[in-house]
Amino acid sequence: MFYRPSDGHGLPHNPFNAIVTPRPIGWISTHGSDGSDNLAPYSFFNGVAYVPPQVMFASTGSKDDRDGTKDSVANIRETGVFCVNVVEHAMKDVMNQTSGPWDAETDEFDLAKIEKAACSEIDCARVAATPAALECRMTQIVQIEGAANFVVFGEVVGVHLRDDCIVDGIFDVLRYNPLTRLGYRDYSVIRDKFSLNRPGE
Ligand SMILES: Cc1cc2nc3c(=O)[nH]c(=O)nc-3n(C[C@H](O)[C@H](O)[C@H](O)COP(=O)(O)O)c2cc1C
Repeated sequence: MFYRPSDGHGLPHNPFNAIVTPRPIGWISTHGSDGSDNLAPYSFFNGVAYVPPQVMFASTGSKDDRDGTKDSVANIRETGVFCVNVVEHAMKDVMNQTSGPWDAETDEFDLAKIEKAACSEIDCARVAATPAALECRMTQIVQIEGAANFVVFGEVVGVHLRDDCIVDGIFDVLRYNPLTRLGYRDYSVIRDKFSLNRPGE
């Protein structure tokens, strides 16, 4: 089949987010100017540069008690910082709990009983047990086409790696089994890997 998104897809559910898969999940922790902590998953997330290391995530849609966006973007606008926590398979249910449409005052760490740790370089909480956390200073928030669509870019200024995930000098994802997002309500988990040398290497 072929469809133009502007004409509609004619399927029971939009296939778009099943096509761009699997996606890593950035579990974004932020801190509001009122002192509250916030945690929510974003799968429109990726790394975008090595030097300096930079990441992005995209927020689509808004919540009634926020000015045209969601808590995460609103907090980053206020404080200029965020932390990306990596989600391992064992954290799938608590991660999912933090994705509810909770009001701005809700601390999702408390709601889902997730232990916090303090970030080192920024004033923000992180998930204590996460395999890896990237402390980020926001560099740009770009509004893109459509209502309430924002892309947040950040420079990574601090990196936490869980010691048990470092094997022979490699950050070994098989030690924690990353959770990835497919389309609809589907997920997958990384349980094996292989290597390829590039031509000329
Ligand atoms: C696995 C997963 C991935 C998600 N990815 C996104 C995303 O990339 N962008 C987005 O706007 N919402 C995404 N959501 C929905 C948000 O997590 C949800 O709207 C949440 O309430 C936002 O929280 P906040 O207002 O505290 O930022 C995702 C939800 C789940 C469960």
